[in-house]
Amino acid sequence: MTITTAPTAQTGFFEARLPRPRGPLSALVVRALEEPPGSFPSGRAQGLSGADPFGEDLQLALYVCYELHYRGFAGVDPTWEWDPGLLRLRRDMEEVFLAALRAGVPGGDDVHAALEGLLVEDLDAPGVSHHLKDRGEWWQLREYLVHRSIYHLKEADPHAWVIPRLQGQAKASLVAVEFDEFGGGRADRMHSRLFAGLMEEAGLDPSYLYYLEIAPAVALAPVNMMSMFGLHRALRGALVGHFAAAEITTAPSARRMAQALERFGAGRYATVFFTEHIEADAVHEQVLRRDVVGDMLDREPGLAPDVVFGVQATELLEERLGDRLLGSWRAGHGSLLAGLPRR
Ligand SMILES: [Fe+2]
Ligand SMILES: [Fe+2]
Repeated sequence: MTITTAPTAQTGFFEARLPRPRGPLSALVVRALEEPPGSFPSGRAQGLSGADPFGEDLQLALYVCYELHYRGFAGVDPTWEWDPGLLRLRRDMEEVFLAALRAGVPGGDDVHAALEGLLVEDLDAPGVSHHLKDRGEWWQLREYLVHRSIYHLKEADPHAWVIPRLQGQAKASLVAVEFDEFGGGRADRMHSRLFAGLMEEAGLDPSYLYYLEIAPAVALAPVNMMSMFGLHRALRGALVGHFAAAEITTAPSARRMAQALERFGAGRYATVFFTEHIEADAVHEQVLRRDVVGDMLDREPGLAPDVVFGVQATELLEERLGDRLLGSWRAGHGSLLAGLPRR
């Protein structure tokens, strides 16, 4: 395919602004980052006990902590990334989040069954892409893009953390998939860039994390999960399970999203992000299953329960996001923390 994206505002250097806090934990993190490193208060953070693991406060606080490992925020000293006080709080929040994810999934060690289960569609409860393809409205599709921008503008970055933790064919094949995600050596073909082009065609601002302020916890949680799995070598099996789950489920939903965009008369630049994924992820799925998951488990069979956990946790968080979107739209209101200007 030779289509290139429309030129986007994603050129030059852009730094996201720190978001407004949503509770005591995110206030603690955001306020600290406004100061020089080394000043983080010691002791157990207020708001940690009893914090909702999937709630706005903890998810935003975690997201901000993780972002220091990606691009950071404007005006924030980059050495905060390894500040021991902040890392201690991040670890405490991760434990709360991880425990809730483990408690929310059935578990097990049958990797094959977990991956096959992803392809079974619940016809009684069609998902977001079904809705948008068949009867969704344009403003709903734009909201969906805003939720997804939290990940897609850093697409495949969280998975890069796992590369040094793998060996042999699993490593070689995961890098081959990442090479595609990062555009095969061409900046204008990076999936993050294709998504930025799609946002621009939908009249949205494609600047990195521009919509962090209005993205609810359900949209932050899947990305926090990827960052957590990627940044902990102990969770490498879960990261690989998550990656396989994402690749397996992307192709069918990308096809429906391309159809949704066509229904709204969107141009080819808008649909290329999804059409690219229909083809690419059909291949990525096979590579992930056989060469990454398969090879990794041949070397480290003890990781099977972690792979299953990564698959199931992905399903859990995707379901939560889907429920929020469809529930809000069914009730006749928007699904973001603040409305988008309608157009
Ligand atoms: Fe992709
Ligand atoms: Fe992919």
